[in-house]
Amino acid sequence: MVSNTLYIHSLRYQWLNRFYDPVVRLSTRESAVKKALVSFLPPTNQGEVLDLACGTGTLSRAIKATQPAFNIHGIDGDKDMLDRAKKMARMAELDIHYDHGFAQQLPYDDSTFDVVTSSLFFHHLTTDDKRAAFREVYRVMKPKGLFLVADWGRPQNILMRMTFGMVQLLDGFETTADNVRGALPAMMEEAGLFPVDHLRTMATPLGTITLLRASS
Ligand SMILES: C[S@@+](CC[C@H](N)C(=O)[O-])C[C@H]1O[C@@H](n2cnc3c(N)ncnc32)[C@H](O)[C@@H]1O
Repeated sequence: MVSNTLYIHSLRYQWLNRFYDPVVRLSTRESAVKKALVSFLPPTNQGEVLDLACGTGTLSRAIKATQPAFNIHGIDGDKDMLDRAKKMARMAELDIHYDHGFAQQLPYDDSTFDVVTSSLFFHHLTTDDKRAAFREVYRVMKPKGLFLVADWGRPQNILMRMTFGMVQLLDGFETTADNVRGALPAMMEEAGLFPVDHLRTMATPLGTITLLRASS
C-alpha cells in the first residue's frame, strides 16, 4: 500500500467485491460506457495497453476481444479483484497480464505504454492522489500516447446530482468532490496530459459519466 493514502475498495468494503460486477452492470450502464470507451481506441491493432485500476477486468477483456494484437496489462491495488479478473480472462481464453500495484506509484518503466485506459476509478482517490496518479500515467505513457478515461463527471442536471449522492455515500464525499466539480480535465492537463477532449457525457442511474481523451 502507498503510505499516507486512503484506499477505497470497489464497493468500499473488500467483502462486497463479490457483488461488484452485478451492481456496476445494473447501476452504471456499464456495457454502453465501456463499449463507447473501446470505440475511441486507435485503429492500429498493435501496442502496449495499460488498464489502470482494472478491477475485475471487464474493460481489459472488452479491449482484448476487440483488438487481440494489443498486449494488455491490467493493474489494481486489490489482489482479490485481480484474482477475479485473472479467472474471468482464463475462462474467456484471453491473454491479459494482471499486475498488483498502486496508481500513485506504478511498477512500470517510463514510456512503456501506447495507450492507458481507466474506468470508474479516479473518484476513489483524494485530490493529492489523483494528481500523483495522473503524473504516473504521464510518466509511463510513450510520447504522443493516448489516455482514455470514463468516470463520474459534473452532473448534467439536478436529478443526476441527486442520484450521485448514492455513489458519494459509498465511495466518500472527499474523493468524489473533484468529479462533481468537473475538475478532472484540469488536473490531467496539469500533469502533462494535454489537451483533454470531452468525448461523451452519459446519463446513468447513478449520475453522469464523462468520457475524456488526452495525449501525453
Ligand atoms: C469502482 S472500481 C472500478 C474497476 C474497473 N475499472 C471497472 O470499470 O469496473 C475501482 C477500482 O480501483 C481500485 N483501486 C482503488 N484505489 C486504487 C489505487 N490507489 N491504485 C490501484 N487501484 C486502486 C479498486 O481496488 C477497484 O478495483
